[in-house]
Amino acid sequence: MITKTDSKISYSRWINGEQKSFTEDLVNFRLDSKNSTYAFSALEDGFLLHAYYGKRLGNDDLSYLLRLNENPFTLKSNNRDKGTFMDSKSFEFPCHGTGDYRESCFMVMDKDGMSTCDLRYSSYEIIKGKPDLTQEFYDYATKSWQKVNIPATWSKDGEDCETLIITMKDEHLSLTAELYYTVFTDLDIITRSVKITNEAEKPVDLRRVLSVCVDYEGCDYDYITLNGSWARERILERSHLHHGKQGVDSVKGESSHQSNPFVALVSPDCDENKGEAFGYNLVYSGNFCATAEVTQHKRTRLVMGINPFDFSWTLDPGKSFQAPEVVMSYSCEGLGQMSRNFHDLYRNNLIRGEWKDKRRPILINNWEATYFNFNTEKLISIAKEASKLGIEMLVMDDGWFGHRDSDNSSLGDWFVYEKKIDGGLKYLVDEVNKLGMKFGIWFEPEMISPDSVLYTEHPEWAIQIPGRVPTMSREQYVLDYSNKEVRDHIYEMIKKILDSANIEYIKWDMNRQLTEVGSTTLPTERQRELWHRYVLGVYDVMNRLTTDYPYLLLENCSGGGARFDPGMLYFSPQIWTSDDTDAIERLKIQHGTSICYPASSMGAHVSDCPNHTVGRTTPFSTRGDVALVGTFGYELDVTRIPEADRNAIPGQIEKFKKYNPLVRTGDQYRIGNIFEDNTYDAWMFVAKDKSEALLTIVQVLGRPNYPQRVFKLPGLEPDARYTLEELDITLSGETLENAGVAIEMYGDFSSRTIHLVKVRK
Ligand code: DGJ
Repeated sequence: MITKTDSKISYSRWINGEQKSFTEDLVNFRLDSKNSTYAFSALEDGFLLHAYYGKRLGNDDLSYLLRLNENPFTLKSNNRDKGTFMDSKSFEFPCHGTGDYRESCFMVMDKDGMSTCDLRYSSYEIIKGKPDLTQEFYDYATKSWQKVNIPATWSKDGEDCETLIITMKDEHLSLTAELYYTVFTDLDIITRSVKITNEAEKPVDLRRVLSVCVDYEGCDYDYITLNGSWARERILERSHLHHGKQGVDSVKGESSHQSNPFVALVSPDCDENKGEAFGYNLVYSGNFCATAEVTQHKRTRLVMGINPFDFSWTLDPGKSFQAPEVVMSYSCEGLGQMSRNFHDLYRNNLIRGEWKDKRRPILINNWEATYFNFNTEKLISIAKEASKLGIEMLVMDDGWFGHRDSDNSSLGDWFVYEKKIDGGLKYLVDEVNKLGMKFGIWFEPEMISPDSVLYTEHPEWAIQIPGRVPTMSREQYVLDYSNKEVRDHIYEMIKKILDSANIEYIKWDMNRQLTEVGSTTLPTERQRELWHRYVLGVYDVMNRLTTDYPYLLLENCSGGGARFDPGMLYFSPQIWTSDDTDAIERLKIQHGTSICYPASSMGAHVSDCPNHTVGRTTPFSTRGDVALVGTFGYELDVTRIPEADRNAIPGQIEKFKKYNPLVRTGDQYRIGNIFEDNTYDAWMFVAKDKSEALLTIVQVLGRPNYPQRVFKLPGLEPDARYTLEELDITLSGETLENAGVAIEMYGDFSSRTIHLVKVRK
């Protein structure tokens, strides 16, 4: 619920030995969700000050939290100390240049070369539902205006959320900022974004447009981030805040393996089930930054948005710039609830399309089975065996196009490599379909190999700085997706392939980061826009693809999980989580990923052993149980794996089909924490109606020391009784939560799944 009230606040201060009284008129805004309250106010002179974000409060007037009766008071009574005012108050959208020296959200470069902006409150509007976010920009290659839909959460029916739009103005620059706040009341979610409009007659350069700022009282918080590397994505890190700035970011042109656009501030006592947690996740797939700054007054400022580093955007008169959305999840019941809020929002109000609420086909992907060494015959032999076992889709990975026999050629040549795909693509797809299986295909649409027809014809289409030798990575360059001609050409090639056969799935890969970021079509003064224009270009093609082929299942991927972000989830209901398919490494990767992304979105496959990335051998059943909490599939040569493993596949598939509805739609509880105790991991999915649950345990190390472990199981109905089928015991939800249940563990790297079923009274 969003409310606006007017109030007055009175205070007195001594001026030249005399006590004088002052009254300040306030416009107060309050956003209440089920368990959270967010409050801020506009002062008479238009400053927008933050009052509170935290546990849901009653109807008290919260304006005392603005601390206007504290030195330096308000400007009305003390303009001589404006500098102190600016650098100590809590601002909703702080601008650079007028005395707030903390992290700001906004900085410009105006026509006079000045970087100061001073936005003041002007008006407000409250609407039902949530407006779409779009960006208009001029394409210099085709000399046309383009408009792109920017990924954002959406309202299902206009009733599940409400939006407050605050308009702020800088009269000197004739610049307007609209701050959007949407409350998803039942989910304890607030989203924020910002739109800047230039109402002046001259262009203005935007140098920094962050999407959110929240100022917290105090600094006694832990800071949680998801960091890593290739094959080690989203490893959870937690540290106590310290004075100064701490943050995560990406400057690679994608959200990256190294950092995820997610941070949380949590109370020091916060664990999975108790304490306060404030999660922030940016709906964006390019350069981002998230910084927590502990200030001189021992308060904490949290800002997040597009990374201002090497960013610039020239805003023409009458035009707007739309910054991406930040999703804020609040929980007063620990990290677990913060994650479940994100999961519910993303499953219901971010992911779109045909496959959003459906079980995904069980696929077999040939990457780890064959790498580049395959042909039609090999693929059909895999499909034949797979279909007998119950696998539902064959995905042909990298190597089917141009003359690609290794990763050193052909990106951009999206036509079939007839030598490998002998008989043609349609023949292959038809043969796979005849086996009762669907067919999926791999693309890397943003890339170009120097050894390709495309590069021979259009070297200028690669991102580059003329005169400089471009940096190669995996022997490829990145296409200039800011150029509509490039996007049109690539998309037409993809379309041709899609229209040539019954293709029902695409894996969209992206295997290198951006360097020498320059475009052959953008004018000099707009070159720094390329980072953001690139992301908008990717979104444009994904928009076209998902609109033209609504039935297609799209899985995003970026050298594993370098672009696992909400921007990508808007287009694809699933994302390849990591190239590391080792079941034990996946415990960490999937635990970290689950901090804000739902299991239904995590690409997870059973692969062969010894594992291709880490060389470890784990039981086939453990690999299955770990992949079960993702989209599930196989990444192995099913014609060559051990007989016993092959024979286990139909059972695994049956298990996946039985439990997928629960995993896909239920509430996830992380029971173990592999980052704190590396001897085991455990998690549970509880049905929304609490009628059943699935507990999974993986014994990692030390079975002799832990022949049994006791697991406390939250999230069940306390008064109901549950039968733990595999253990043949029945206990109440209350006992399971508080006393727990002792479970015998098997050997190291083994797993157990236990199905809890509510007993009818
Ligand atoms: C990186 C992906 O993460 C892998 O699954 C595979 O598709 C390769 N690229 C192919 O080049």
